[in-house]
Amino acid sequence: MLNQTSPQTKPETMQQWIAKSGVDSIADLALEAAPVPKPGPGEVRIRVKAVSLNARDLMVLEHGFMRLPEVDLVLGSDVSGTVDALGEGVADWQVGDHVVNLHFNAWFDGAPPASAGGGLGSLNEQGVLAEYIVLPAERIAAAPNGYTHPEAACLPCAGVTAWNALMDKQPIGAGDKVLVIGTGGVATSAVMIARGAGAEVIQLVRRDDHNDRLHSRGIKTIINSATEADWGKAVAEATGGVDKVINTIGFSAVNQALAACAYGGEVAVIGLRDQAGPALGYELFGKSVRGIMVGSARMYAALKEQLEASGEKPVIERTYPLSETKAALQAMKESGRFGKIVITTKA
Ligand SMILES: NC(=O)c1ccc[n+]([C@@H]2O[C@H](COP(=O)([O-])OP(=O)(O)OC[C@H]3O[C@@H](n4cnc5c(N)ncnc54)[C@H](OP(=O)(O)O)[C@@H]3O)[C@@H](O)[C@H]2O)c1
Repeated sequence: MLNQTSPQTKPETMQQWIAKSGVDSIADLALEAAPVPKPGPGEVRIRVKAVSLNARDLMVLEHGFMRLPEVDLVLGSDVSGTVDALGEGVADWQVGDHVVNLHFNAWFDGAPPASAGGGLGSLNEQGVLAEYIVLPAERIAAAPNGYTHPEAACLPCAGVTAWNALMDKQPIGAGDKVLVIGTGGVATSAVMIARGAGAEVIQLVRRDDHNDRLHSRGIKTIINSATEADWGKAVAEATGGVDKVINTIGFSAVNQALAACAYGGEVAVIGLRDQAGPALGYELFGKSVRGIMVGSARMYAALKEQLEASGEKPVIERTYPLSETKAALQAMKESGRFGKIVITTKA
């Protein structure tokens, strides 16, 4: 039996953004009416309040990344909302709870299971760019206390990815040095977590227009890769070598990132935008490279605990209403962002 609240006051249809099979452009996305989904046993319905966009949403739409060609797919992987109805047997959640999704299917702890999938809004898992969604009760977690819906929506992918990179293996601590590349969603999340851990952030940019904002966030050392082609060496000379690199570029940046590290340092490879790179060289010795795959439920819980203690918040560059999702996705394609793009619903 469903434990729904005032079903007569709920709309029967809702809006959702869908990429029909074969659609691979923002222009051809469709805002469609669909029935408000009903939670089955063990599931919860969530009234979507905010969705944050990630670079991977464009990869799914435009480049076939984690996309099944025959599936009509609702896009979007990161949601914050309130529990709106409970399916049979759900005891851990109450209607009205403020929750976010967990990125992967059934990755609770340890190594990812083979069934992890690619996150909501990819493969055969429908996404969150809708007014209501239904998820298994184990696929959600409480939002951090004191977080708004737009802030909480920034955590499931970008926040947990940055946590995994910084804190899960070789965790950084007070006084450690972290090189963060770029000013997008993962990068600004990494700064938030590094600040919470008391680490010193060194920033690599390829444009100077955000330097004042970076300084105001306590970052003293900024190196521009557009003017410092040998930026790994420049970072090492300026800092004596860093303990961690948040490599949001990809494989091509690994050798320079290793050059930026002190002995014992780790390069966390996150970026998917550049998958061709030179072979590893002598820079690897005495250092390590780790590939990051977002993270587990346990990592989200640890991130939430740190954020509640530190009071740090994600950086949101701009929010758009659900009706302007195409403009929001277009904004994700522009260079020069500082932080996350978030979509909000009316409710
Ligand atoms: N492995 C994982 O689990 C995982 C999880 C999340 C994200 N990712 C990947 O990580 C990357 C970042 O994601 P995101 O959501 O943070 O993207 P984003 O918000 O689009 O930000 C990308 C940032 O990287 C900067 N950048 C790109 N190329 C650069 C270069 N050559 N030198 C210096 N800066 C450069 C951009 O600077 P400009 O503003 O100058 O363009 C921008 O600040 C993407 O490739 C994404 O697919 C992977």
